[in-house]
Amino acid sequence: MVFLLLPIDFFEMNTTKNPALPAERYTITTALIYANGPIHIGHLAGVHVPADIYARYLRAIGKDVHFVGGSDEHGVPITIKAKKEGITPQEVVDKYHKMLKDSFEEFGISFDHYSRTSAKIHHQTASDFFKTLYDKGKFIEETNMQLYDEEAQQFLADRFVVGTCPKCGYEESYGDQCENCGTSHNATDLINPKSAITGNVPSLKETKHWYLPLNEYEDWLKEWILIGHKNDWKPNVYGQVKSWIDDGLRPRAVTRDLDWGIPVPVPGGEGKVLYVWFDAPIGYISASKEWAEKTGNDWEPYWKDTTTKLFHFIGKDNIVFHCIIFPAMLKAEGSFILPENVPANEFLNLENDKISTSRNWAVWLHEYLEDFPNQQDVLRYTLTANAPETKDNNFTWKDFQARNNNELVAIFGNFINRVVVLTNKYYDGIVPTPTGFTDTDEETLAQLRKYPQIISKSIQRYRFREALMELMNLARLGNKYLADEEPWKVIKENPERVQTILFVALQIATGLSVLCEPFLPFTSKKLKKILRFAPNDSVTLSTVEGPLTWNDITTKNVLLPSSHQIGNAELLFSKIEDAAIQQQLDKLEATKLTNEVTDKTVEPQKETIAFEDFTKLDIRIGTILEAVKIPKTKKLLRLKVDVGIDIRTIVSGIAESFSAEDIIGRKVTVLCNLAPRTLRGVESQGMILMTETPDGKLAFVAPENDDVSNGVKIS
Ligand code: MF3
Ligand code: ZN
Repeated sequence: MVFLLLPIDFFEMNTTKNPALPAERYTITTALIYANGPIHIGHLAGVHVPADIYARYLRAIGKDVHFVGGSDEHGVPITIKAKKEGITPQEVVDKYHKMLKDSFEEFGISFDHYSRTSAKIHHQTASDFFKTLYDKGKFIEETNMQLYDEEAQQFLADRFVVGTCPKCGYEESYGDQCENCGTSHNATDLINPKSAITGNVPSLKETKHWYLPLNEYEDWLKEWILIGHKNDWKPNVYGQVKSWIDDGLRPRAVTRDLDWGIPVPVPGGEGKVLYVWFDAPIGYISASKEWAEKTGNDWEPYWKDTTTKLFHFIGKDNIVFHCIIFPAMLKAEGSFILPENVPANEFLNLENDKISTSRNWAVWLHEYLEDFPNQQDVLRYTLTANAPETKDNNFTWKDFQARNNNELVAIFGNFINRVVVLTNKYYDGIVPTPTGFTDTDEETLAQLRKYPQIISKSIQRYRFREALMELMNLARLGNKYLADEEPWKVIKENPERVQTILFVALQIATGLSVLCEPFLPFTSKKLKKILRFAPNDSVTLSTVEGPLTWNDITTKNVLLPSSHQIGNAELLFSKIEDAAIQQQLDKLEATKLTNEVTDKTVEPQKETIAFEDFTKLDIRIGTILEAVKIPKTKKLLRLKVDVGIDIRTIVSGIAESFSAEDIIGRKVTVLCNLAPRTLRGVESQGMILMTETPDGKLAFVAPENDDVSNGVKIS
């Protein structure tokens, strides 16, 4: 054999090989999710899947990784949900925390620990953090006027108040942040504020709060981010941060007059709580502490050792909090490390429309699993291939189907299936001994050895879509190799040659099983099972010691040795039929219809009238006897209506919704004593009462029973 041993050290991976050197340490966090609803594909695509790929990748190359997430259980979103459902905030968070935690587990998000901010340890940690800053004199204490809802008897902060964003003019901005432009502001900055509780225009009332003077951190932030991270932070993140700093930072209140949250632990703080965006990011630290308590580990190196690299995975609406406010808090506290990078993603849309929890416009993970059981990796794959890394992106069910059928099934699955089936067929599942390598064989194996480096390069630049594409290129390489070498034909004339072909193909399959793990963890497991890896990821032969690493793929001559016994073929992916996709599209269509009905803005009530005014109206039941379209008009029908008193002519503008012949005999409601009017030369002696259906068509207002006699009054 003429294998080349490549002395490649492409991810400084010697740390795994040399136990004397401690592995490089990484702390990875995912934005804590509000526990006020289940989780959807937007969360997964923007935050959790990329973070998980990153964490799994770093582990695979031998780094010491600490990966935490959790539920964000304070703040106005929780209170609003509790009010809506008529339950307590604690009941809300208990319900959704469990759902969130389960979903993450089911989708293989490999947290070392998943915590929650209502946990005691978090209350203590956040409270102590606040106290430390207070004792160090890092806050400004200020009493001033804040928005107040007299009717609800409540101060209005954050999502309890909406108004026009002072920066971009968006009319639905929240008190603390505009969802349109991402700016964070104070509630009193809103133009035309309105209470989200009662709709009232707020008044102003005096109250005391603690402010973090962000302006004092401006120079430091400029130095640290604008100069220090100019080249390694993603342009979307860097750009946003720069624009905020350039606009000038101002003190931000970090306490609130609310009753759900962590009590303010200093004198004068009675009845007040910490601002949710003050406590939530501290939740990352609390999660590590909780993990340490549970596992008997030390959490401090992950947050305090300056050689540890800290990464926050978030969506773009969280940039200001993770790049400016939380770092300023950490800096003020003084004993923690700062993020190395904050690789924020843009947003994922669903079928060309913004994902929205309140409008139910989402693919919920628990529902996905009901409809596509055991197909977590297909969703992980689609969301990664389509990740909103540099701009907002779109998830469509057709694309999901195409990616599964044309890529996972046709390329990855097909290659594996052919290799495994042929090995079983020709060699009873025993890896054959190669009989000499051609240039093509050598070239193919040399390419395989390059893939860990190629994929690494993309991942290290947070280009997960590109990394995934490269992984698929390795599967394509395998497919092409088999298609070119045609072992199923060669077996007849030259069976010895087929030994080599399948040996080479099996090395690629083995490489894929290891390299796909960060992206497709379930598939990796299944494939390793088919190839008969031992539980610790090693091949069950004494020739291969320990788990196969990414480095091994580059440096080892043989990944899956000859005479190793593999298992039976098992499909890694299966085709998704049109009907399954149509079912999802129908579900969304139904949501759309429901939304259209509720979206129609209801006109405000007209001026009050006296009862006498109402009694002046003579409204009766009638029956349409004749209907004729008035020529040269689009809308008008001339009707003859029996209203009990008489049979009269009424001109009605309903021709776009009804054809004349269809309405003869219909019961209708008629305003009889309306002053007659002449329309297109026809005198109309009354008015038929109509209403509108959601699709904009007119509908008759008529008695439920057809046996109400003509002339009967409505009163
Ligand atoms: N719950 C917030 C959101 O969904 C994110 C909180 S991230 C943390 O927008 F840093 F505060 F934890
Ligand atoms: Zn705005």
